[in-house]
Order: sequence, then structure tokens, then C-alpha cells
Amino acid sequence: MAAFGPASLSNLGPGFDTLGLCIKGIGDVVEASFSSTSGITITSSDPIPLQPRANTAGSAAHLVMTKAGDKRGIHLHINKGIPLGSGIGGSAASASAGAWAVNLLLGKPFEKKELAYAVLESERLASGGGLHGDNALPSLLGGLILTSPVSPLDYRRVNITKDLHLVVILPQRSILTADARTILPSSVTRTDAVHNASDLVFMLHALVTGDWAALSPYMMRDRIVEPARASLVPFYQDVRDAGLEAGACAVALTGSGPAMFAVAKDAESTSIIRDAMVEAAGEGARGIITMADMDGVHELTHSECSL
Ligand code: HSE
Repeated sequence: MAAFGPASLSNLGPGFDTLGLCIKGIGDVVEASFSSTSGITITSSDPIPLQPRANTAGSAAHLVMTKAGDKRGIHLHINKGIPLGSGIGGSAASASAGAWAVNLLLGKPFEKKELAYAVLESERLASGGGLHGDNALPSLLGGLILTSPVSPLDYRRVNITKDLHLVVILPQRSILTADARTILPSSVTRTDAVHNASDLVFMLHALVTGDWAALSPYMMRDRIVEPARASLVPFYQDVRDAGLEAGACAVALTGSGPAMFAVAKDAESTSIIRDAMVEAAGEGARGIITMADMDGVHELTHSECSL
């Protein structure tokens, strides 16, 4: 059985570790089958760790098998559709696809929400030990996820009812989440904390009401995380300017970067925004036109086999 774990945009400006959005059309595929070798074995043609305890799909598969009390051996084959270290939740997508592929193989004994622990715990491998669900939960459940780093199983899934047209730019470089977390400030001023909290609530209101034009400035003036990480992304300001000049409602870094995304006001404006941002992101960058995905991880469909 094969599952497609979608990519996700996290933080969305001021929502560090608390907000993530599942996106369509790009993701990782994990194929699961029973094996005569005990435990979890993994193959992939991508440069990823193949030890089950160091691989988010392997870890998630192991946790689902443990939850099911099933001791059979499992083989996973992983196909990374998401570039490594890109900032759109590749490790989380593998975790959700690993968990769901095994769940399908077992005859679907669990609902998605019962697998939240498995994907969250597995995502820990990629984040340098921290537990945050702003990629893992959107990839599993779809939609916009509000999550608590204090208690990641406390989450809310918000359905976005109006079409949300997005552009994602994938520059030709990678940043490891664990590294991009070490450069963050360890304390912030009350002024900055209140500023970010206020921007977060107004941004959330715009997202929930589908008022894309109201996303800026709230999505674009994070004072705590994005300024520190912009220093790792040399074309950051150029991509922001290019996206806005091309008509984007807002542009921000996703996760730990270097990928950046833009919210477009409609489908017609997406290709102009994409072209402008790709050019600003330099050689080797590519752009994707996508939308919010309300479904999350699912069995691989025929059309996704050719992605
Ligand atoms: N919220 C996390 C971070 C997401 O920004 O470090 C990592 O992809």
C-alpha cells in the first residue's frame, strides 16, 4: 500500500511552532509491504537515513505497528518528492506517509487523529529534539492547524472554505531545521511578544474569513523568528519585494526556510507572482503554484504516481 504525505507551510509569519497549512501537489510517497525480515526495513534512492530510528517514516511506521500490537516485519520504500531541507515539511510528510501506509496495510484500524502521536513523535527526529506539530499535523490531517508546542496533541484543525491560491519558491539550497533553530533568540521583549501575538490573531482572522487582502501586514512583520532566519537566506528581501510587486497579498518564509511562499488574491495572478519570485531567488530556484489542501495524507492516487 502506498501513501502520499503532502508538504506543508509552517509558521506563516508570526505563528512560530503554532500554525501550519497543508498544501496540494507536492509530497513524499511511502510504500509499505509485509516483509519476512523482522522490524522495519527501508529503501530509497534519495540521500536519507535508512535506519528506522533515524528516519521519520520508519519511526512513524514502527509506532503504528506497536500501537496495533502487530509484530510482523514491514518494508518501506520512500520516494522523496519534497527536496531535503527546503522548509516545506519534508520530514513530516514522510512521517505522515509512513504512518498512513502502514495503517492502510493493516486494513485501516486507526483513524487519522489516532496517529497524531506517531507522526509528532517521529518529527522530533528532524527538529533537533523539539516537539512541534506545525508540519506533522497539517500533513496528517490537512487544513490549517493550530497547535501547541507545550502540548502538541492539543490542536485544532480549521477548514479554509475559500480557495487559497499559493505560490511556493524552492531555492537551490537547503537549511536544516535543527540548525535554523539554534540561531533563534532565547528571549524576547514584551513589546515584541505582544506585537507578534496581536499580528497572529489578526492574521488568523484573515485566514479564517478568507480575507486574503487583509493578510498583510500581519503575515509579514514577525519580529522574533523570521528576522533571524532571513540572515540565512540571501535573496529573502528580493523575493519578498518581487512577490509583492507582482501582486501577492503577502510573502513570508515557510518553516526554517529557505523556501518562501506567497498568497495570491486569485488563480490568475499566481503565474506572474511565481515567475517574479523565481527570478529573484536566483539560479536553480523553482516555483510551484498550489492551493491549501484540506485532506492531508491519503492513499496514493493514480495521478500522483507520475508526480
Ligand atoms: N516551526 C518549525 C520551525 C517548523 O520553524 O523551526 C520547522 O519546519
